[in-house]
Amino acid sequence: MQDKAIITNDSKSTECPVIIGTEGEKAIDIAKLRSQTGCITFDDGYGNTGSCLSKITFIDGDLGILRYRGIDIAELSEKSDFIETAYLIIWGRFPTADERKAFEAQMAENAKLPDSMTQQFEGFPKDAHPMAVLTSMINAMSCHHHDLFEIKDEKSFARATAILLSKIRLIAAYTYKHANGDALFCQQGEGGYAAQFLSMMFSWPGKRYVADADVARALDLLFILHADHEQNCSTSTVRMVASSEANLFTATSAGVSALWGKLHGGANQAVLEMLEGIKNSGDSIESVIAKCKQKDSDFRLMGFGHRVYKNFDPRAKIIKVACDKVLDKLGKSDPLLQIAKDLEKAALSDSYFVDRKLYPNVDFYSGIIMRAIGIPTNMFTVMFAIGRMPGWIANWKETNENPKARIYRPRQIYMGPKLRSYEDAKKG
Ligand code: CMC
Repeated sequence: MQDKAIITNDSKSTECPVIIGTEGEKAIDIAKLRSQTGCITFDDGYGNTGSCLSKITFIDGDLGILRYRGIDIAELSEKSDFIETAYLIIWGRFPTADERKAFEAQMAENAKLPDSMTQQFEGFPKDAHPMAVLTSMINAMSCHHHDLFEIKDEKSFARATAILLSKIRLIAAYTYKHANGDALFCQQGEGGYAAQFLSMMFSWPGKRYVADADVARALDLLFILHADHEQNCSTSTVRMVASSEANLFTATSAGVSALWGKLHGGANQAVLEMLEGIKNSGDSIESVIAKCKQKDSDFRLMGFGHRVYKNFDPRAKIIKVACDKVLDKLGKSDPLLQIAKDLEKAALSDSYFVDRKLYPNVDFYSGIIMRAIGIPTNMFTVMFAIGRMPGWIANWKETNENPKARIYRPRQIYMGPKLRSYEDAKKG
């Protein structure tokens, strides 16, 4: 097998090593390209750039494969739960029974927010977007944990991880209560991670919410399916911030910010709004599909398309099945589910979508489940963030532990004005 690539430019050639991943993917290592040929590479949007070596998650976008630490997502989502999956993603192996117990105990110890953080909610307008609150509050954790700025040992890392995974739920629940003008009351709740979160969200003084086991399981499943996705926009952001040796809290808060946009995690909110728009306007499915195809239209079918998946998104398949199950269990029928299914059917038989390999992604059906559970639409991306936290933590850890790590610092190709004087620039 060829283990080098020759790149020639202006009659200068360089031999670049070819790196081969565990699953056979090949990458040309161009680290010496500039020093040997004077050239850098250009890859707008990083569509063809490998930014790191990672052992966490494998995706084959052509075959629709997603694996965490080598285990297929379909198998994990059937057999595991969120905490076990989070542990696997972060530490690379399943916890023993004792390790799991200890980790859950550490999470329980760190479940509360310091009073000053609870008071901070009062500073946010009630109509603040929950993602704005979440990113601020996660960053605010840095103010309370100076001792975890530099994590040099496993014990401190485990504590920081327990703090983040535990407190992000309460921050989400308090964000919801604050937006509704309710007291920031926390009912710890029984059951697993998702059941406890639902109890924090929907319990009020004197009215304890106990999550239905199937409903809690559906949310847990969503968390598992969102737990990592290799070098997506938010995870690359976390690695970028981590590369400057910034602390775990501030790096994951940057991840939350990157996730918010509607081309990334914000798509789940955008999908629901799109489906509601179609329902309220009475627009036909054909007219919506036609709108996507109009030249000069920037309308996109939200929840469709993916940079990497060009066949199907395995997470979307699992979520679609779960959607029917949850609605059945709750005895609910949601007209938006039928609209979503009709849209999917129409798109998958339309040459515009077929030619561009556009399929439903993880965000297409997830909102229907969250809506059935009672989570408000503007909090959907917060649910994504809770699920993605293990992936961000694992990627921060991998960056932090890499002895060869360097600060992330891409180059650019300058296309601005050539040297000109201050006076000439003022003349315009
Ligand atoms: N609806 C209609 N057309 C689309 C869509 C869509 N959802 N997605 C891509 N296209 C078209 C796009 O207009 C372009 O057409 P043309 O070649 O004629 O210019 C072509 O498909 C390729 O699109 P692209 O923008 O170059 O693809 P990308 O890899 O840069 O973007 C994406 C990927 C996910 C941002 C994009 O598919 C999109 O905007 N989808 C809708 C938003 C969404 O659902 N995002 C969630 C992504 S999955 C979860 C996550 O990452 O958080």
